[in-house]
Amino acid sequence: MRDVLRDIFDDTAAARSALQYGPSEGDMLLRQRLCSHMALRGVRCEPANILLTSGAQQALNLVSEAFVDPDDTVLVQSPTYPGALQVFLAHGARLAGLDARTAAPSLIYAMSNFQNPTGVSLSLGQRQHLVALAHQLDTVLIEDDPYEALLYDGEALPSLLSIDVGEHSIEDARTLYFGTFSKSIAPGLRIGWVVGPALVVEKLALLKQTEDLQANSLAQAALGRLLAHGVEPFARPIQVAYRERRERMAEALRGEFGNRGAWSVPQGGFFFWLTLPMEIDTAAMLRHAAQLGVTYVPGIAFSHSGSGANTLRLSFSSAQPDRISEGVRRLAKAFDEHAS
Ligand SMILES: Cc1ncc(COP(=O)(O)O)c(C=O)c1O
Repeated sequence: MRDVLRDIFDDTAAARSALQYGPSEGDMLLRQRLCSHMALRGVRCEPANILLTSGAQQALNLVSEAFVDPDDTVLVQSPTYPGALQVFLAHGARLAGLDARTAAPSLIYAMSNFQNPTGVSLSLGQRQHLVALAHQLDTVLIEDDPYEALLYDGEALPSLLSIDVGEHSIEDARTLYFGTFSKSIAPGLRIGWVVGPALVVEKLALLKQTEDLQANSLAQAALGRLLAHGVEPFARPIQVAYRERRERMAEALRGEFGNRGAWSVPQGGFFFWLTLPMEIDTAAMLRHAAQLGVTYVPGIAFSHSGSGANTLRLSFSSAQPDRISEGVRRLAKAFDEHAS
């Protein structure tokens, strides 16, 4: 990042442009790079199919603004990302699970890979079903895919958008793909992107003008240069580091919890999802855990229906391996004391 910023500021024309207003759709070089990125993942698209946003979070808001009216139904996974629930609720949506029998939802919202909070990915069959459902109900399917670059083992499955464009042209796709550099490069840059039909991208860009005119020019210019060889050179070292942290958390959970809880080891991303015995309220247990110096997010925060009081999300992304072992040890102590 230091090198590309130096290159930009050593070149007067590049520096001027990086410090100016730019197009609402986003920097052309970065959108071209993202076309290459998407092509490697089975989606052939043009820059007109891409909108650069101030993170995937803004994409959630723009798409809700475009498609959700008060009392409309939005179908969500259960559990799901609370930042999305907040946005849908702020637009007056009614929330229902993916299997709800609703004739005309305004949106379907799903994370395909290493979901936040469970760490679980959709199977190929589930992916095909969601794309077919969006076409059948003639609705918009949001594929939020922030953790895609963080695959630690196994093979990547096709994205919902790649399944959609395999059967329809991108202009007829019902899937809007959300990407972000927050998990692969740096969240502070606040750059994400939407891929979808050019007509929808154009409308979202108009809405974006009302929110913030455009995403940050300097961050877009830096990313355009940084990604000359794609995201992969940046993804590899963080995959190694995060894989080790994931191993450490898996080991610690096996050692400390044994069969006193249930979890599965995620193939990628940041999270373990722990299910404790039914009588444990993880929101109440949190106070206890915090006194022992460890925190987590209670499962109820991820629920659209208030279910999952006995679940919790653990994140291994930002802690050093030794602290992960110690954290899980303290969590198990909090659980033992709370349960007794
Ligand atoms: C599923 C999901 N979507 C969106 C976001 C927001 O990402 P961004 O930093 O790109 O706004 C996050 C961040 O944690 C997330 O987990």
